[in-house]
Amino acid sequence: MAKTRKTTKPKTARKPATRSGILSNERRSEREELLGMLETAYWMEIETVMSYIANSINPDGVRAQEIMESLQTDIQEELTHAQQFAARIKELYGVVPGSMEFKPEQTYLQPPKDQIDLTHVIKGVIEAESGAIDHYNKIIEFCADVDPVTEDMVIAILRDEEGHLRLFEGFLREFDSAG
Ligand SMILES: [Fe+2]
Ligand SMILES: [Fe+2]
Repeated sequence: MAKTRKTTKPKTARKPATRSGILSNERRSEREELLGMLETAYWMEIETVMSYIANSINPDGVRAQEIMESLQTDIQEELTHAQQFAARIKELYGVVPGSMEFKPEQTYLQPPKDQIDLTHVIKGVIEAESGAIDHYNKIIEFCADVDPVTEDMVIAILRDEEGHLRLFEGFLREFDSAG
């Protein structure tokens, strides 16, 4: 049986909610555009986690050890980035997408034919990091006038990605010169 619920008036009238900044009604369209960019960033991080797990385990050879260890460390950082993007999506009134919306893009980070082919892995990592750096710079630029909080968060993440890129550029130099 359905119960009828008594409605009681709140004792103190609530103030009408006024929000400023990126959470305001006036910023709705910017907020929605930003949510799209944050979703892309979220999926990039998730796919990077997948690719780095595979590439931190597949490679063979003495020279693979350094690369594998480095990727293992990165996995945790990329996972944290994904969680940060997800949290920001929620804070901006968005919903973190479900796995059915995932579309893979990292063709360049698939396992090589030969698991001793580390140059393939290193170049793949450089491409993934460069892609993230491009996208995050766009987010930072977009946020400059509208959302300093997201801007701040993404600047810190960008620094991590620049560190990853720099490290793997160093690996590539060594591998190129060793032939
Ligand atoms: Fe990341
Ligand atoms: Fe990274």
